[in-house]
Amino acid sequence: MRWIVFCALISAPAQADPELGRRLFHDPALSANGAMSCADCHDPERGFTSGAVGGRTPPPLHVATQLSVWGWDGRHESLRAAILAPLTDPREMANPDADAAARRVGLVDADALADAIGAYLATLDSPPPTPEGRGAELFRSAGCADCHSGPLLTDEGFHNLGLSAFGEPSQDLGRMRVTGDPADAGRFRTPSLRHVAQTAPYMHTGHFRTLEGVVRFYAQGGGKVWARNAAEADRPMYPEAARLDPRIRPLDLSEDDIAALVAFLKQL
Ligand code: HEC
Ligand code: HEC
Repeated sequence: MRWIVFCALISAPAQADPELGRRLFHDPALSANGAMSCADCHDPERGFTSGAVGGRTPPPLHVATQLSVWGWDGRHESLRAAILAPLTDPREMANPDADAAARRVGLVDADALADAIGAYLATLDSPPPTPEGRGAELFRSAGCADCHSGPLLTDEGFHNLGLSAFGEPSQDLGRMRVTGDPADAGRFRTPSLRHVAQTAPYMHTGHFRTLEGVVRFYAQGGGKVWARNAAEADRPMYPEAARLDPRIRPLDLSEDDIAALVAFLKQL
């Protein structure tokens, strides 16, 4: 009996080390050409994001360990998958094999790498004091809190804000790329707003450099998706991509309201 307990203890994985994870996060040796680290795209100095790469911005990582779906289109169903995907993505770290990349930096396998980086990511969040005042009220009355809900300020749902660039070279149909369902055309995951003051540029496209720009975008009723000609209008996807979430509609916000919302967002 005692022997069984002892075996269970020695075969349990060692507690993952956040400091090791932090070093690995900054280590370009994880990429095939030895030149790219996680931190190049998820720059700690820039709220763990950076400008858009390949059409999408790297999401900030402060609450990555607390989410239940990962990626702007929700393509990753586990944190492990989201951490390991860049290792073998040909546009990112381009390794033929994630285990081999982990062994190159002295670990036993990719699981050990995901555990260590996960332990580091778990240290990044610090919950803010609950903001109060007019901005907080506006955040509710303007409908922001419908989608940016709960402690992480996300419902982890997918919504169409009119940012799919339908019909343009940069078109990105978001969630539909994962589900294949036309009803998902142009839908993206609601991002957490924790630490949002530090995480510019905003949206999956990185289109907005300031929070004021984002709030004005909502005030005007979101983005516009239009067909430039009959052929585009005939595409079966067009009505789907053009159908914004019903909560995205022009808001009656004064200049003071906009300033109060921005001040609120900066406290999150
Ligand atoms: C070349 C830039 C680049 C590199 C290098 C990179 N990432 Fe990312 N990362 C992204 C982008 C872009 C996304 C969003 C992908 C999407 O939604 O299609 C992302 C998504 C993620 C997510 C999901 C976050 C969320 O909120 O959904 C995690 C976690 C993550 N990366 C961790 C890492 C780790 C750990 C490394 C290093 C092993 C790394 N990334 C390397 C660009 C990068
Ligand atoms: C219908 C759901 C919904 C509502 C309502 C909503 N949002 Fe969003 N929000 C989203 C989604 C989805 C995104 C990401 C869209 C994208 O990148 O295509 C987003 C992105 C953002 C971002 C950018 C965050 C980042 O890291 O890039 C901010 C800031 C933001 N919203 C604030 C607000 C405010 C303020 C309101 C109210 C005026 C609001 N949202 C209302 C769903 C919503």
